Amino acid sequence: MTAVVGLQWGDEAKGKVVDLLSDSHDIVVRFQGGANAGHTVTVDGRQLKMSLIPSGVLHTGVIGLIGNGVVVDPEALFQEMEQCRDAGVDVEKQVRISDRAHLILPYHKAEESILEHQAEGARIGTTLRGIGPCYQDKVGRRFSIRVGDLLHPSWLRERLERAVAHKNRVLAAMGSEERFSAEALFETCRSWAERLRPYIVDSVEFLHEAVAQGRRVLFEGAQGTLLDVDHGTYPYVTSSNSSMSGIAAGSGIPARWVTHAIGVVKAYTTRVGSGPFPTELDNELGERIREAGNEFGTVTGRPRRCGWFDAVAARYSAKICGVDSLAVMLLDVLTGFEELAICVAYLYQGRELRTVPSHPDVLRQCEPVYELVPGWSEDITGARSFGELPERARQYLRRIEQLVGVPIAIVSVGPERSETIWVEPALVGRG
Ligand code: GDP
Ligand code: IMO
Ligand code: MG
Repeated sequence: MTAVVGLQWGDEAKGKVVDLLSDSHDIVVRFQGGANAGHTVTVDGRQLKMSLIPSGVLHTGVIGLIGNGVVVDPEALFQEMEQCRDAGVDVEKQVRISDRAHLILPYHKAEESILEHQAEGARIGTTLRGIGPCYQDKVGRRFSIRVGDLLHPSWLRERLERAVAHKNRVLAAMGSEERFSAEALFETCRSWAERLRPYIVDSVEFLHEAVAQGRRVLFEGAQGTLLDVDHGTYPYVTSSNSSMSGIAAGSGIPARWVTHAIGVVKAYTTRVGSGPFPTELDNELGERIREAGNEFGTVTGRPRRCGWFDAVAARYSAKICGVDSLAVMLLDVLTGFEELAICVAYLYQGRELRTVPSHPDVLRQCEPVYELVPGWSEDITGARSFGELPERARQYLRRIEQLVGVPIAIVSVGPERSETIWVEPALVGRG
Protein backbone atom coordinates (compact mmCIF):
# COMPACT_ATOMS: atom_id res chain seq x y z
CA MET A 1 0.00 0.00 0.00
CA THR A 2 1.40 3.36 -1.04
CA ALA A 3 0.78 6.95 0.07
CA VAL A 4 1.70 10.16 -1.74
CA VAL A 5 1.57 13.35 0.34
CA GLY A 6 2.86 16.90 -0.06
CA LEU A 7 5.52 18.12 2.36
CA GLN A 8 5.19 21.84 1.61
CA TRP A 9 2.18 24.16 1.18
CA GLY A 10 0.56 22.19 -1.63
CA ASP A 11 1.08 22.11 -5.41
CA GLU A 12 4.22 20.00 -5.07
CA ALA A 13 3.15 18.02 -8.18
CA LYS A 14 1.51 15.20 -6.25
CA GLY A 15 -0.74 14.65 -9.27
CA LYS A 16 2.22 13.72 -11.46
CA VAL A 17 3.63 11.33 -8.83
CA VAL A 18 0.24 9.64 -8.35
CA ASP A 19 -0.11 9.31 -12.11
CA LEU A 20 3.36 7.73 -12.36
CA LEU A 21 2.56 5.15 -9.70
CA SER A 22 -1.04 4.40 -10.65
CA ASP A 23 -0.23 1.76 -13.23
CA SER A 24 0.96 -0.53 -10.44
CA HIS A 25 -2.14 0.03 -8.30
CA ASP A 26 -5.80 -0.96 -8.58
CA ILE A 27 -7.49 1.69 -6.44
CA VAL A 28 -6.46 5.31 -5.84
CA VAL A 29 -8.08 6.96 -2.82
CA ARG A 30 -8.56 10.61 -1.90
CA PHE A 31 -8.94 10.78 1.89
CA GLN A 32 -9.34 14.51 2.66
CA GLY A 33 -9.90 17.93 1.16
CA GLY A 34 -12.20 18.55 -1.75
CA ALA A 35 -12.35 20.70 -4.86
CA ASN A 36 -9.78 23.04 -3.31
CA ALA A 37 -7.20 20.64 -4.76
CA GLY A 38 -5.89 21.07 -8.27
CA HIS A 39 -3.71 18.21 -9.43
CA THR A 40 -2.36 18.65 -12.93
CA VAL A 41 -1.45 15.56 -14.88
CA THR A 42 0.17 15.90 -18.28
CA VAL A 43 -0.30 13.01 -20.68
CA ASP A 44 1.18 13.35 -24.18
CA GLY A 45 1.05 17.12 -24.11
CA ARG A 46 -2.51 17.20 -22.83
CA GLN A 47 -3.08 18.77 -19.41
CA LEU A 48 -5.76 17.39 -17.14
CA LYS A 49 -6.68 19.21 -13.96
CA MET A 50 -8.02 16.81 -11.37
CA SER A 51 -9.76 18.20 -8.36
CA LEU A 52 -12.03 15.72 -6.56
CA ILE A 53 -11.59 12.58 -8.60
CA PRO A 54 -8.33 10.76 -7.81
CA SER A 55 -5.75 11.24 -10.57
CA GLY A 56 -5.31 7.47 -10.87
CA VAL A 57 -8.45 7.13 -13.04
CA LEU A 58 -6.44 8.32 -16.01
CA HIS A 59 -5.11 4.75 -16.18
CA THR A 60 -7.49 2.22 -17.71
CA GLY A 61 -9.27 0.12 -15.12
CA VAL A 62 -7.93 1.95 -12.07
CA ILE A 63 -10.71 2.81 -9.59
CA GLY A 64 -10.73 6.30 -8.10
CA LEU A 65 -12.39 6.30 -4.70
CA ILE A 66 -13.49 9.53 -3.02
CA GLY A 67 -13.08 8.52 0.61
CA ASN A 68 -15.14 9.38 3.67
CA GLY A 69 -12.77 12.17 4.69
CA VAL A 70 -13.40 14.19 1.53
CA VAL A 71 -15.93 17.03 1.31
CA VAL A 72 -17.84 16.69 -1.95
CA ASP A 73 -19.27 19.47 -4.06
CA PRO A 74 -21.55 17.56 -6.47
CA GLU A 75 -21.61 20.36 -9.08
CA ALA A 76 -17.78 20.37 -9.20
CA LEU A 77 -17.82 16.58 -9.35
CA PHE A 78 -20.23 16.45 -12.32
CA GLN A 79 -18.05 18.88 -14.25
CA GLU A 80 -14.97 16.84 -13.52
CA MET A 81 -16.73 13.63 -14.55
CA GLU A 82 -17.39 15.26 -17.94
CA GLN A 83 -13.74 16.21 -18.29
CA CYS A 84 -12.76 12.64 -17.44
CA ARG A 85 -15.21 11.17 -19.96
CA ASP A 86 -13.70 13.41 -22.65
CA ALA A 87 -10.29 12.04 -21.70
CA GLY A 88 -11.53 8.49 -22.22
CA VAL A 89 -12.12 7.52 -18.59
CA ASP A 90 -14.90 4.99 -18.04
CA VAL A 91 -16.39 7.14 -15.27
CA GLU A 92 -19.30 4.76 -14.49
CA LYS A 93 -16.87 1.91 -13.85
CA GLN A 94 -13.93 3.79 -12.42
CA VAL A 95 -15.34 6.34 -9.97
CA ARG A 96 -16.75 5.54 -6.52
CA ILE A 97 -17.83 7.86 -3.70
CA SER A 98 -18.09 7.15 -0.02
CA ASP A 99 -21.54 7.39 1.53
CA ARG A 100 -19.84 8.84 4.60
CA ALA A 101 -18.30 11.80 2.73
CA HIS A 102 -19.87 15.16 3.61
CA LEU A 103 -21.60 17.40 1.07
CA ILE A 104 -20.75 20.99 0.27
CA LEU A 105 -23.96 22.95 -0.16
CA PRO A 106 -24.35 26.42 -1.69
CA TYR A 107 -24.66 28.05 1.75
CA HIS A 108 -21.13 26.87 2.64
CA LYS A 109 -19.71 28.95 -0.19
CA ALA A 110 -21.91 31.94 0.72
CA GLU A 111 -20.71 31.77 4.33
CA GLU A 112 -17.06 31.48 3.32
CA SER A 113 -17.27 34.32 0.85
CA ILE A 114 -18.55 36.68 3.56
CA LEU A 115 -15.97 35.52 6.09
CA GLU A 116 -13.10 35.99 3.65
CA HIS A 117 -14.30 39.37 2.45
CA GLN A 118 -15.08 40.76 5.89
CA ALA A 119 -11.87 39.54 7.45
CA GLU A 120 -9.61 42.52 6.77
CA GLY A 121 -6.13 41.47 7.86
CA ALA A 122 -7.25 38.04 9.04
CA ARG A 123 -7.91 36.65 5.60
CA ILE A 124 -6.78 33.05 5.11
CA GLY A 125 -6.88 33.42 1.34
CA THR A 126 -8.94 30.29 0.87
CA THR A 127 -10.00 28.82 -2.46
CA LEU A 128 -13.64 29.83 -1.68
CA ARG A 129 -14.81 26.30 -2.41
CA GLY A 130 -16.77 26.01 0.85
CA ILE A 131 -14.23 23.63 2.36
CA GLY A 132 -13.86 25.26 5.81
CA PRO A 133 -17.60 25.80 6.49
CA CYS A 134 -18.38 22.23 5.41
CA TYR A 135 -15.76 20.71 7.74
CA GLN A 136 -17.05 23.00 10.51
CA ASP A 137 -20.52 21.54 10.06
CA LYS A 138 -19.09 18.02 9.93
CA VAL A 139 -17.32 18.39 13.26
CA GLY A 140 -20.27 20.36 14.70
CA ARG A 141 -22.49 17.34 13.86
CA ARG A 142 -25.84 19.13 13.92
CA PHE A 143 -26.22 20.38 10.37
CA SER A 144 -23.97 18.49 7.99
CA ILE A 145 -25.44 16.41 5.19
CA ARG A 146 -23.56 13.33 4.04
CA VAL A 147 -23.54 11.72 0.61
CA GLY A 148 -25.43 8.74 2.07
CA ASP A 149 -28.23 11.05 3.26
CA LEU A 150 -29.11 11.66 -0.39
CA LEU A 151 -30.50 8.12 -0.52
CA HIS A 152 -32.77 8.61 2.53
CA PRO A 153 -35.30 11.29 1.51
CA SER A 154 -37.23 11.72 4.76
CA TRP A 155 -34.01 11.86 6.82
CA LEU A 156 -32.53 14.24 4.26
CA ARG A 157 -35.54 16.56 4.33
CA GLU A 158 -35.51 16.76 8.12
CA ARG A 159 -31.76 17.48 8.31
CA LEU A 160 -31.90 19.98 5.48
CA GLU A 161 -34.79 21.92 7.02
CA ARG A 162 -32.91 22.29 10.28
CA ALA A 163 -29.63 23.16 8.53
CA VAL A 164 -31.18 25.76 6.22
CA ALA A 165 -33.08 27.48 9.06
CA HIS A 166 -29.82 27.73 10.98
CA LYS A 167 -27.80 28.92 7.99
CA ASN A 168 -30.33 31.62 7.20
CA ARG A 169 -30.03 32.88 10.78
CA VAL A 170 -26.24 32.83 10.51
CA LEU A 171 -26.28 34.68 7.18
CA ALA A 172 -28.60 37.34 8.61
CA ALA A 173 -26.32 37.76 11.63
CA MET A 174 -23.38 38.16 9.30
CA GLY A 175 -25.15 41.02 7.57
CA SER A 176 -25.91 39.10 4.39
CA GLU A 177 -29.19 39.40 2.55
CA GLU A 178 -28.80 36.01 0.93
CA ARG A 179 -31.31 33.34 2.03
CA PHE A 180 -31.75 29.71 1.05
CA SER A 181 -34.91 27.69 0.63
CA ALA A 182 -34.98 24.22 2.19
CA GLU A 183 -37.51 23.10 -0.40
CA ALA A 184 -35.39 24.21 -3.35
CA LEU A 185 -32.25 22.64 -1.86
CA PHE A 186 -34.17 19.43 -1.21
CA GLU A 187 -35.03 19.26 -4.91
CA THR A 188 -31.40 19.95 -5.81
CA CYS A 189 -30.32 17.15 -3.48
CA ARG A 190 -32.88 14.78 -5.03
CA SER A 191 -31.45 15.42 -8.47
CA TRP A 192 -27.91 14.92 -7.14
CA ALA A 193 -29.11 11.65 -5.57
CA GLU A 194 -30.32 10.33 -8.93
CA ARG A 195 -27.06 11.20 -10.65
CA LEU A 196 -24.76 9.99 -7.87
CA ARG A 197 -26.61 6.81 -6.89
CA PRO A 198 -24.58 4.45 -9.12
CA TYR A 199 -21.31 5.69 -7.63
CA ILE A 200 -22.13 5.67 -3.93
CA VAL A 201 -20.61 2.87 -1.86
CA ASP A 202 -19.84 2.00 1.74
CA SER A 203 -16.23 2.90 1.06
CA VAL A 204 -14.86 1.24 4.18
CA GLU A 205 -16.30 -2.15 3.23
CA PHE A 206 -15.33 -1.54 -0.38
CA LEU A 207 -11.70 -0.91 0.51
CA HIS A 208 -11.35 -3.69 3.05
CA GLU A 209 -12.85 -6.22 0.64
CA ALA A 210 -10.54 -5.04 -2.11
CA VAL A 211 -7.50 -5.33 0.15
CA ALA A 212 -8.58 -8.83 1.21
CA GLN A 213 -8.64 -9.77 -2.48
CA GLY A 214 -5.10 -8.53 -2.93
CA ARG A 215 -5.91 -5.25 -4.68
CA ARG A 216 -3.19 -2.61 -4.41
CA VAL A 217 -4.21 0.72 -2.93
CA LEU A 218 -2.61 4.14 -3.40
CA PHE A 219 -3.55 7.13 -1.25
CA GLU A 220 -3.49 10.52 -2.98
CA GLY A 221 -2.94 13.40 -0.59
CA ALA A 222 -4.23 16.86 -1.40
CA GLN A 223 -2.76 20.16 -0.14
CA GLY A 224 0.40 19.60 1.90
CA THR A 225 1.63 18.92 5.42
CA LEU A 226 2.18 22.63 6.16
CA LEU A 227 -1.52 23.19 5.38
CA ASP A 228 -2.62 20.39 7.76
CA VAL A 229 -5.14 21.71 10.30
CA ASP A 230 -3.22 20.14 13.20
CA HIS A 231 0.38 20.16 12.03
CA GLY A 232 0.52 23.01 9.55
CA THR A 233 1.06 26.74 9.95
CA TYR A 234 -2.24 27.28 11.79
CA PRO A 235 -4.46 29.28 11.30
CA TYR A 236 -3.22 29.67 7.72
CA VAL A 237 -4.09 26.10 6.83
CA THR A 238 -6.87 24.10 5.24
CA SER A 239 -9.55 22.42 7.37
CA SER A 240 -8.44 18.80 7.04
CA ASN A 241 -5.49 16.58 7.95
CA SER A 242 -3.57 16.87 4.72
CA SER A 243 -0.48 15.08 6.03
CA MET A 244 -0.17 11.30 6.37
CA SER A 245 -2.21 11.70 9.57
CA GLY A 246 -5.41 11.99 7.54
CA ILE A 247 -5.23 8.58 5.88
CA ALA A 248 -6.69 6.35 8.57
CA ALA A 249 -9.47 8.77 9.53
CA GLY A 250 -10.31 9.63 5.94
CA SER A 251 -10.42 6.11 4.52
CA GLY A 252 -11.01 3.57 7.28
CA ILE A 253 -7.75 1.81 6.41
CA PRO A 254 -5.28 1.43 9.30
CA ALA A 255 -2.29 3.74 8.87
CA ARG A 256 0.07 0.86 9.64
CA TRP A 257 -0.90 -0.89 6.40
CA VAL A 258 0.87 1.74 4.33
CA THR A 259 4.17 0.21 3.25
CA HIS A 260 5.54 2.99 1.04
CA ALA A 261 5.08 6.62 2.09
CA ILE A 262 6.34 9.16 -0.43
CA GLY A 263 6.80 12.81 0.46
CA VAL A 264 6.56 15.15 -2.53
CA VAL A 265 8.50 18.42 -2.60
CA LYS A 266 9.28 20.99 -5.22
CA ALA A 267 12.96 21.76 -5.72
CA TYR A 268 11.99 25.20 -4.36
CA THR A 269 8.91 26.34 -2.37
CA THR A 270 5.56 27.90 -3.24
CA ARG A 271 2.54 28.98 -1.26
CA VAL A 272 -0.90 30.30 -2.31
CA GLY A 273 -2.97 32.36 0.10
CA SER A 274 -1.95 34.08 3.33
CA GLY A 275 0.41 33.01 6.08
CA PRO A 276 4.08 33.01 6.99
CA PHE A 277 6.56 31.83 4.37
CA PRO A 278 10.15 32.32 5.59
CA THR A 279 11.93 31.71 2.27
CA GLU A 280 9.57 33.81 0.16
CA LEU A 281 11.31 35.84 -2.55
CA ASP A 282 9.23 38.95 -2.99
CA ASN A 283 11.57 40.19 -5.71
CA GLU A 284 12.73 39.48 -9.26
CA LEU A 285 14.18 36.10 -8.25
CA GLY A 286 10.74 35.01 -7.06
CA GLU A 287 9.25 36.41 -10.25
CA ARG A 288 11.76 34.41 -12.28
CA ILE A 289 10.79 31.17 -10.52
CA ARG A 290 7.10 31.99 -11.01
CA GLU A 291 7.61 32.48 -14.73
CA ALA A 292 9.84 29.43 -15.20
CA GLY A 293 7.60 27.19 -13.14
CA ASN A 294 4.36 28.70 -14.42
CA GLU A 295 3.37 29.16 -10.80
CA PHE A 296 -0.25 30.19 -11.04
CA GLY A 297 -2.92 28.36 -9.03
CA THR A 298 -4.79 25.54 -10.79
CA VAL A 299 -8.03 26.20 -8.90
CA THR A 300 -8.11 29.98 -8.54
CA GLY A 301 -5.53 31.19 -11.06
CA ARG A 302 -3.82 33.25 -8.33
CA PRO A 303 -0.07 33.82 -8.75
CA ARG A 304 1.72 31.53 -6.31
CA ARG A 305 4.20 33.04 -3.89
CA CYS A 306 7.64 31.59 -4.68
CA GLY A 307 10.83 31.10 -2.68
CA TRP A 308 13.89 28.96 -2.07
CA PHE A 309 13.80 25.39 -0.81
CA ASP A 310 13.10 25.37 2.91
CA ALA A 311 14.85 22.34 4.39
CA VAL A 312 13.67 23.20 7.92
CA ALA A 313 10.04 23.01 6.83
CA ALA A 314 10.55 19.91 4.67
CA ARG A 315 12.37 18.08 7.47
CA TYR A 316 9.56 18.97 9.88
CA SER A 317 6.93 17.66 7.45
CA ALA A 318 8.91 14.50 6.71
CA LYS A 319 9.02 13.85 10.44
CA ILE A 320 5.26 14.30 10.88
CA CYS A 321 4.56 12.02 7.92
CA GLY A 322 7.28 9.43 8.50
CA VAL A 323 7.95 9.24 4.77
CA ASP A 324 10.32 6.60 3.41
CA SER A 325 11.36 8.56 0.36
CA LEU A 326 11.19 11.91 -1.38
CA ALA A 327 10.03 12.85 -4.85
CA VAL A 328 11.78 16.10 -5.80
CA MET A 329 9.77 17.83 -8.52
CA LEU A 330 10.24 20.69 -11.00
CA LEU A 331 14.05 20.59 -10.75
CA ASP A 332 14.21 21.95 -14.32
CA VAL A 333 12.70 25.25 -13.11
CA LEU A 334 15.95 26.03 -11.27
CA THR A 335 18.11 25.69 -14.39
CA GLY A 336 19.97 28.88 -15.22
CA PHE A 337 20.29 30.34 -11.72
CA GLU A 338 23.93 31.13 -11.02
CA GLU A 339 23.50 30.42 -7.36
CA LEU A 340 20.79 28.67 -5.38
CA ALA A 341 19.97 29.01 -1.72
CA ILE A 342 18.69 26.38 0.70
CA CYS A 343 17.24 27.41 4.04
CA VAL A 344 18.99 25.37 6.75
CA ALA A 345 17.71 27.16 9.88
CA TYR A 346 15.53 30.07 11.00
CA LEU A 347 16.83 33.04 12.91
CA TYR A 348 14.35 34.20 15.58
CA GLN A 349 15.33 37.06 17.88
CA GLY A 350 19.00 36.17 17.51
CA ARG A 351 18.47 32.45 18.11
CA GLU A 352 18.80 29.72 15.48
CA LEU A 353 15.78 27.42 15.21
CA ARG A 354 16.11 24.03 13.54
CA THR A 355 12.43 23.19 13.33
CA VAL A 356 9.16 24.93 12.47
CA PRO A 357 7.94 26.89 15.51
CA SER A 358 4.38 26.12 16.58
CA HIS A 359 3.26 29.74 16.89
CA PRO A 360 2.55 31.84 13.78
CA ASP A 361 3.78 34.97 15.54
CA VAL A 362 7.20 33.34 15.94
CA LEU A 363 7.23 31.89 12.43
CA ARG A 364 6.40 35.21 10.81
CA GLN A 365 9.39 36.82 12.54
CA CYS A 366 11.79 34.06 11.44
CA GLU A 367 14.49 35.02 8.99
CA PRO A 368 15.91 32.22 6.85
CA VAL A 369 19.54 31.18 7.32
CA TYR A 370 20.76 30.22 3.88
CA GLU A 371 23.42 27.93 2.57
CA LEU A 372 24.42 28.97 -0.93
CA VAL A 373 25.12 26.35 -3.57
CA PRO A 374 26.25 26.84 -7.16
CA GLY A 375 23.59 26.45 -9.86
CA TRP A 376 23.78 24.76 -13.26
CA SER A 377 23.01 26.05 -16.73
CA GLU A 378 22.66 22.85 -18.75
CA ASP A 379 19.18 21.83 -19.99
CA ILE A 380 18.23 18.89 -17.78
CA THR A 381 14.82 18.05 -19.22
CA GLY A 382 16.32 15.16 -21.20
CA ALA A 383 18.06 13.52 -18.23
CA ARG A 384 16.66 10.06 -17.53
CA SER A 385 19.12 8.88 -14.87
CA PHE A 386 20.70 10.52 -11.87
CA GLY A 387 24.11 10.20 -13.56
CA GLU A 388 22.90 12.22 -16.56
CA LEU A 389 22.25 15.28 -14.39
CA PRO A 390 24.99 17.93 -14.20
CA GLU A 391 27.31 17.55 -11.22
CA ARG A 392 25.90 20.69 -9.58
CA ALA A 393 22.29 19.50 -9.87
CA ARG A 394 23.33 16.23 -8.24
CA GLN A 395 25.07 18.14 -5.46
CA TYR A 396 21.95 20.24 -4.91
CA LEU A 397 19.77 17.12 -4.64
CA ARG A 398 22.22 15.30 -2.36
CA ARG A 399 22.25 18.31 -0.05
CA ILE A 400 18.43 18.38 0.11
CA GLU A 401 18.42 14.68 0.87
CA GLN A 402 20.97 15.15 3.65
CA LEU A 403 19.17 18.10 5.23
CA VAL A 404 15.71 16.52 5.09
CA GLY A 405 17.10 13.17 6.22
CA VAL A 406 15.10 11.08 3.73
CA PRO A 407 16.41 9.40 0.55
CA ILE A 408 15.27 10.67 -2.85
CA ALA A 409 13.40 8.07 -4.92
CA ILE A 410 12.14 10.23 -7.79
CA VAL A 411 13.38 13.40 -9.50
CA SER A 412 11.16 15.19 -11.98
CA VAL A 413 12.60 17.33 -14.78
CA GLY A 414 9.40 18.20 -16.67
CA PRO A 415 5.63 17.72 -16.51
CA GLU A 416 5.44 14.72 -18.85
CA ARG A 417 5.46 11.14 -17.54
CA SER A 418 8.70 10.47 -19.41
CA GLU A 419 10.46 13.47 -17.84
CA THR A 420 11.20 11.49 -14.71
CA ILE A 421 14.32 10.05 -13.09
CA TRP A 422 13.74 6.92 -11.02
CA VAL A 423 16.61 7.31 -8.58
CA GLU A 424 15.64 4.53 -6.16
CA PRO A 425 12.61 2.74 -7.64
CA ALA A 426 12.62 0.09 -4.88
CA LEU A 427 11.73 2.79 -2.35
CA VAL A 428 8.42 3.43 -4.10
CA GLY A 429 7.67 -0.25 -4.59
CA ARG A 430 9.10 -0.61 -8.10
CA GLY A 431 11.80 -2.87 -9.47
P1 GDP B 1 -0.31 19.18 -7.11
O1 GDP B 1 -1.47 19.97 -6.67
O2 GDP B 1 0.59 18.80 -5.99
O3 GDP B 1 -0.69 17.96 -7.92
O4 GDP B 1 0.54 20.12 -8.07
P2 GDP B 1 -0.06 21.08 -9.22
O5 GDP B 1 -0.58 20.25 -10.32
O6 GDP B 1 -0.98 22.08 -8.63
O7 GDP B 1 1.24 21.90 -9.64
C1 GDP B 1 2.35 21.27 -10.20
C2 GDP B 1 2.56 21.81 -11.62
O8 GDP B 1 3.87 21.47 -12.08
C3 GDP B 1 1.64 21.20 -12.66
O9 GDP B 1 1.28 22.19 -13.58
C4 GDP B 1 2.46 20.11 -13.31
O10 GDP B 1 2.08 19.85 -14.65
C5 GDP B 1 3.82 20.74 -13.29
N1 GDP B 1 4.95 19.80 -13.19
C6 GDP B 1 5.02 18.61 -12.58
N2 GDP B 1 6.27 18.13 -12.58
C7 GDP B 1 7.02 19.05 -13.22
C8 GDP B 1 8.41 19.17 -13.53
O11 GDP B 1 9.23 18.32 -13.17
N3 GDP B 1 8.82 20.28 -14.20
C9 GDP B 1 7.95 21.26 -14.58
N4 GDP B 1 8.45 22.29 -15.23
N5 GDP B 1 6.64 21.19 -14.30
C10 GDP B 1 6.19 20.12 -13.63
P1 IMO C 1 -3.32 20.93 -3.98
O1 IMO C 1 -3.97 19.60 -3.64
C1 IMO C 1 -2.11 24.88 -2.59
C2 IMO C 1 -4.64 26.78 0.44
C3 IMO C 1 -5.43 28.00 0.05
C4 IMO C 1 -5.45 28.72 1.40
C5 IMO C 1 -5.58 27.59 2.39
C6 IMO C 1 -7.00 27.32 2.85
O2 IMO C 1 -3.50 21.35 -5.38
O3 IMO C 1 -1.90 20.93 -3.52
P2 IMO C 1 -9.13 26.20 1.68
O4 IMO C 1 -9.86 26.57 0.44
O5 IMO C 1 -8.57 24.82 1.66
O6 IMO C 1 -9.90 26.47 2.93
O7 IMO C 1 -7.87 27.23 1.73
O8 IMO C 1 -5.07 26.43 1.74
N1 IMO C 1 -4.86 25.59 -0.43
C7 IMO C 1 -3.98 25.12 -1.31
N2 IMO C 1 -2.78 25.61 -1.69
N3 IMO C 1 -2.55 23.72 -3.11
C8 IMO C 1 -3.74 23.19 -2.73
O9 IMO C 1 -4.17 21.99 -3.12
C9 IMO C 1 -4.54 23.93 -1.81
N4 IMO C 1 -5.74 23.74 -1.25
C10 IMO C 1 -5.93 24.75 -0.40
O10 IMO C 1 -4.78 28.74 -0.94
O11 IMO C 1 -4.22 29.34 1.62
MG1 MG D 1 -2.34 21.87 -6.96
